Amino acid sequence: MQKLTIADLDLHGKCVLVRVDFNVPLHLSDKSDYYEVTDDTRIRAALPTINAVTKSGGKAILLSHLGRPKGQPEERFSLAPVADQLGQILDTTVRFSSETVGSVVAKTIRTMPNGTILLLENTRYFSDEITNDPSFASDLADLGDMYINDAFGTAHRSHASNVGVAAHFPDLSAAGYLLEKELLLLGNALQSPSHPMVALIGGAKVSDKMGVIANLSAIVDHILIGGAMAYTFLMAKGIKVGKSLVEKDRIDDALELIDIAGDKLHLPSDHIVSTSLDSPLERQTVTGEIEDDNVLGVDIGPQTIATYTDLVGQARTCIWNGPMGVFEVPEYAAGTTAMAQAVASATDHGAITIVGGGDSVAAIKQSHLQHKVTHVSTGGGAMLKFLEGKTLPGVDALTDR
Ligand code: 3PG
Repeated sequence: MQKLTIADLDLHGKCVLVRVDFNVPLHLSDKSDYYEVTDDTRIRAALPTINAVTKSGGKAILLSHLGRPKGQPEERFSLAPVADQLGQILDTTVRFSSETVGSVVAKTIRTMPNGTILLLENTRYFSDEITNDPSFASDLADLGDMYINDAFGTAHRSHASNVGVAAHFPDLSAAGYLLEKELLLLGNALQSPSHPMVALIGGAKVSDKMGVIANLSAIVDHILIGGAMAYTFLMAKGIKVGKSLVEKDRIDDALELIDIAGDKLHLPSDHIVSTSLDSPLERQTVTGEIEDDNVLGVDIGPQTIATYTDLVGQARTCIWNGPMGVFEVPEYAAGTTAMAQAVASATDHGAITIVGGGDSVAAIKQSHLQHKVTHVSTGGGAMLKFLEGKTLPGVDALTDR
């Protein structure tokens, strides 16, 4: 790590501002009177850092966003249920402040005992958060003695709570354990991977993954493409794709990527097709071109599953981002499920495997294989930016070692 980490800080008796990514899904309870957290993965991922602060006798002042409120309070984006969930997980009281900055919060922090936790209300209740307004960053900084960023999932954003605030602690802005772990695992995979290295890239749009494919082309041995984005590549190669989803304005970009990646780029050779996403009973397997203009591709076919499973099985390093098909529909999930199994099995045989992105993480959880891979990243957009080889502003802002 070129940046200071939590292990470098003396936390005892300090008010430690910890930027976490508690952007977790909430569900309105059946009685519609409170919200509950439906997936606490990101909360649990931040525990090592929070525990390190409290066990060292520091006060953990947690900052996070949740969702995309438009710069003002909205109950459905409140972090209050997250404070409850964190308290339940830790079996301790987690204080919650309905204000994010200001003298009332400062007083709460002053009077809370060392070794305790306070979660502040959603930083995005202020439009100054996403504009990285210097005065909002300064108000946040006023609440602490030092700053830890543990929000890998937000590290690609240049916001006040993860970039602006760090400037107020030029010698005391450090990475938390989760951020450090994500950067080390992903960094090692890109900088010194064991070969063969395989990237499994899926999802709907080529446009979302172009930078990733271009950057990984120089690093990996195989790029296996799945999901609807495959049809933009196939059409670019002059192969018929029926009425599959295609980004027609990205055909030239797809051709350029085919040129850059050469024979490292693998495209599906067969497909599960159907007349619509809602007609799973009409699904068929088509090998080669999809001649029928009334059907669209919804999953990779068995021949492609076999080829991809074999290549993932040979991998010593594997990165997976994006599903192979419309896996939310059980009849179209075979390709994505097979890849989850292939990645888990590669891990079993000693490969380093990293899974990231909301849909791939959901898919690996759906298969109950999340504990069978080396690492499930807490970053979606942040992981993609990292795989593109881009600097993450939230990391850049931290103190150099
Ligand atoms: C995420 O879920 O990817 C992060 O929390 C960032 O959220 P955002 O895309 O709303 O900035």
